Amino acid sequence: MAFPAAFIDELVQRNPIEDVVGQYVALQRRGANLFGLCPFHGEKTASFSVAPDKGMYYCFGCHKGGGVINFQMEVEGMSYPDAVRALAQRVGMEVPDDAQYQSRYKAQERLWALHKEAARFFHSKLYAPEGRNALNYALGRGMPKATLTTFGIGYAPDTWSALVDHLRTKGYTDQELRESGLVTVSKKNGNLFDRFRDRLMFPIIDVRGNVIGFGGRIMKDDPNAAKYLNSPETLIFNKRKNLFALNLAKKSKLGYLILVEGYMDAIALHQYGFDCAVASLGTALTEDGATLLSRYTDQVVLIYDGDTAGQNATKRAIPMLEKAGLQVKVLQMRDAKDPDEFLRKFGADKFKVLLEESSNRVEYQLNAIRRKYDLREDEQRVQFVQEAAELICTLHSPVQREVYGHRTAEAASISYDAFKLELNKAVKRRNAREKKKQEKIDLAPAQAHRPKSRSIRYDNMKSAMAEETVIALVLKDPTLLDQARGLQAAEFSSELLGRVYGQLRQRHDTGQDVSVGVLKDLSPEEMSHVAGILSRQEGPVNEQALRDCVRIIQQEHQTSSVSGDDDLLRLRDKLKERKGVK
Ligand code: UTP
Ligand code: MN
Repeated sequence: MAFPAAFIDELVQRNPIEDVVGQYVALQRRGANLFGLCPFHGEKTASFSVAPDKGMYYCFGCHKGGGVINFQMEVEGMSYPDAVRALAQRVGMEVPDDAQYQSRYKAQERLWALHKEAARFFHSKLYAPEGRNALNYALGRGMPKATLTTFGIGYAPDTWSALVDHLRTKGYTDQELRESGLVTVSKKNGNLFDRFRDRLMFPIIDVRGNVIGFGGRIMKDDPNAAKYLNSPETLIFNKRKNLFALNLAKKSKLGYLILVEGYMDAIALHQYGFDCAVASLGTALTEDGATLLSRYTDQVVLIYDGDTAGQNATKRAIPMLEKAGLQVKVLQMRDAKDPDEFLRKFGADKFKVLLEESSNRVEYQLNAIRRKYDLREDEQRVQFVQEAAELICTLHSPVQREVYGHRTAEAASISYDAFKLELNKAVKRRNAREKKKQEKIDLAPAQAHRPKSRSIRYDNMKSAMAEETVIALVLKDPTLLDQARGLQAAEFSSELLGRVYGQLRQRHDTGQDVSVGVLKDLSPEEMSHVAGILSRQEGPVNEQALRDCVRIIQQEHQTSSVSGDDDLLRLRDKLKERKGVK
């Protein structure tokens, strides 16, 4: 992953952070900095800041931060080399050869090609004599040939190695076959077998159009066998970060996306004209999935099965989707267990009615609360009103509060004024909770920012504070590094800050740029921590401050080196810790 330093310098310079962030976030200037809604957590007020002069972003809400490469990594879920590549492409820079990156990319390309070949193979088998049953099953479930073609549906033959044999004749090595996840390896003799046998095959295709995995359905329901078997995670297949049919749905003109549970549900929806449907991949929706959706739409209709499992999944999905900045509507499935069954029973027009009736998440949640209580009982009515008020007080729009407030009052047969009293109480309780939270942050910034991971934790607070200031100062004015010539990275008490200082020192001494953007080999958490330090240090650059800090660091370092037993123990722990980090 070692890109030449000069290349990274130029890359960072040619990709101003405000431009790159501006592609994702609407930014508004306030003084030297720009502010917008954080792309990493849901919020209504802009606490996400970009400091063009520092080449850095930082969110005061969720404390994520870093330079431009790190932003690209976080916002697109990319690895470091992929982010570098994307930024290089953005400004038309040629990426110098990087052996490790190249070989990884080549391996990915081979796996994409292998999967495409496998998908072709399965699809052709659907129309071969041995696929007759499968074809009939597919047609019997209402998928016409056009649908089978659009989705590339196929059949995995009922043999031990039809796919393995086929891929070998196409030149794929056993190593590649093992890495593809499409084979299983015999424990006895290491022989390779087809993972999918006698199943109807659903290719999973990413947004760039690459086949990255498969789901395979058995055709005779059997309580002892998994109904669907899915590809395992591989170099190219990450279940959390992909959604079935998004490659098609992203082109939809409908202006929203529908999220369903099953492959068959997504396919049926497309077939009936709702070409904006996607399904999660054999698992519940994840935050990555929600972020992915938010790249293509700002409105999602959730349609999970009507059973308890589906209801629970809905409950978990709502906050994830909202956190990703999406407006959520929930369609309550009825008269059928899932959208596939509904469409085949009642057709597209009836479904459209359901879709129009689908409620926003507040309505949905209010209904869910209402169902919990027997409103004929006084005591339960009181509880209902209280719980509804807790929900309604979280709404930011006064109109929404009024609408749902009236609805609650009506349902509980109380006056709107009485409800408003209850709402005020809920608002007060909420404000008190928020205030407490905020106080905690204000009173104990160190506490609030206390890092979770080992490499960041400080064990000498006094030195660490001085180290933070040094980092902040030299990032603001790199010429200060000349003044701090005597200060060594090894004298830092914090492993992370020492590492950062070392990188900056080395770059400065070899005539390269010094900025947050060029820091490398830092985890996202470490990066955010460094950005947090910079965002908190707003004082003027001051040589005296630098000298004081250097003195403190060196003094603290000396006392910890020439030490009694206690300190020796601490030192040993620290060494151990450093080893663990590397
Ligand atoms: P469902 O059981 O609701 O399947 O599981 P479905 O899509 O309605 O399938 P049909 O209509 O019976 O063919 C929903 C999703 O959960 C995953 C699959 O992604 C499926 O589409 N799943 C289900 C599995 O991964 N494995 C299983 O054994 C079952
Ligand atoms: Mn189904």
